Amino acid sequence: MRMRSSTARKNTRPVRKTLALACLLIPTTTYSADIATERRQELLYLLKHDCGSCHGMTRKGGLGPALLSSILAAKSDETLATIILDGVPGTPMPPWRPFINPDEAKWLVQVLRQRKDNQ
Ligand code: HEC
Repeated sequence: MRMRSSTARKNTRPVRKTLALACLLIPTTTYSADIATERRQELLYLLKHDCGSCHGMTRKGGLGPALLSSILAAKSDETLATIILDGVPGTPMPPWRPFINPDEAKWLVQVLRQRKDNQ
């Protein structure tokens, strides 16, 4: 009995490891719409507090320009996502690539676009 149960336990380990690995890999390969709820909350917090420290907590501008949807409409998703990821050299806009992946940057652009200017 004891031997059988220890064999059974051994056999489940590789499966568990594979599942854990799969869970780690999924977030980096999914599209923006699939960003986990928890990560979205982190990104929204970052947008308000970190981006907000320069762009204003209500995105009306400060050290950085206003990030209101009416203003961003002039630029493409690609341009804005690239600015977020790589920053604007020679200006205070820093690169966020170490903290935000390309899908997350695109998602943030959509968040900014969907917000009304007075929210
Ligand atoms: C240290 C200050 C600072 C922080 C923090 C900061 N930015 Fe910026 N950002 C700037 C400045 C300054 C510019 C204007 C750069 C230029 O002159 O082109 C800018 C430009 C931008 C632009 C382009 C706007 C446009 O109309 O061309 C976007 C989009 C943007 N930032 C998003 C973000 C996001 C998202 C975050 C947070 C993840 C962030 N920024 C954090 C200073 C900052």
